[in-house]
Amino acid sequence: MPTLKQLAVESLTHLVEGGQERLAVDDDARGILREWMLAARRGPQAAAPAPVASPAAPEMSVEEKLELLRSKAADWKPARRLGTLRETMVFAVGNPHARLMLVGEAPGYEEERQGEPFVGPAGQLLTKILGAMGLKRDDVYISNVCKFRPSMGENQGTANRPPSPEELAACSPLIMAEIRAIQPVCIVCLGGSSAKGLLGTQQGVNALRGQWLECQGVPVRVTYHPSYLLRNEALSARRALWEDMLCVMQKLGMPISEKQQNYFR
Ligand code: URA
Repeated sequence: MPTLKQLAVESLTHLVEGGQERLAVDDDARGILREWMLAARRGPQAAAPAPVASPAAPEMSVEEKLELLRSKAADWKPARRLGTLRETMVFAVGNPHARLMLVGEAPGYEEERQGEPFVGPAGQLLTKILGAMGLKRDDVYISNVCKFRPSMGENQGTANRPPSPEELAACSPLIMAEIRAIQPVCIVCLGGSSAKGLLGTQQGVNALRGQWLECQGVPVRVTYHPSYLLRNEALSARRALWEDMLCVMQKLGMPISEKQQNYFR
């Protein structure tokens, strides 16, 4: 029989995934909810029991769950209400059964134009990095914490800006639901915004790199955003990102050749 806690978590999850943004609670309830939220971010050992699946969930395939999420995202009221994000929703791309999930920050000019994450210059570099790992884009699942390109007003042109904390918070239920649907073996956070959105941390990439963290029980590796490498061509930065990817390959049980081991040395 589900506990009171499980029922409360399930009801709240449904409200959030349905786009509800606000709920009146007293101070005691706020304290309890905050404790649950922090425990859930730490992972399953520390978390409240997992929410009970909704009655429809067991029969839904991953593809169906993602399709449902995609349609919810298209009219995602918490994001729309902010009025600071652009109109076009860019969801995710790749394999719903992927063992590796990569999460960036938000679509940019090219992603908004093509309706697909990571297709601009940073995306092309990401595709090359995946290639060096022996993976194709179709082998992995690629998404963003923020599903809309952050707005910079009328004369934005091709310029992009990182999402604000409010924009990340508004979109985070979507990426959390994607993680629950995909259940990857591990996740790579590309850049600081992604880490903020997934891990609720204020720390930057340099402090977060080099360790396994956790989001909803899934191991997470934080690394540099490919756009950082486009701005900083130092061999040390490329080697650092590549070392993170070698750890990811190891976690996935992928073979690593001597050539791969020695890239950027
Ligand atoms: N940068 C991101 O973080 N995501 C994209 O989809 C494109 C560029």
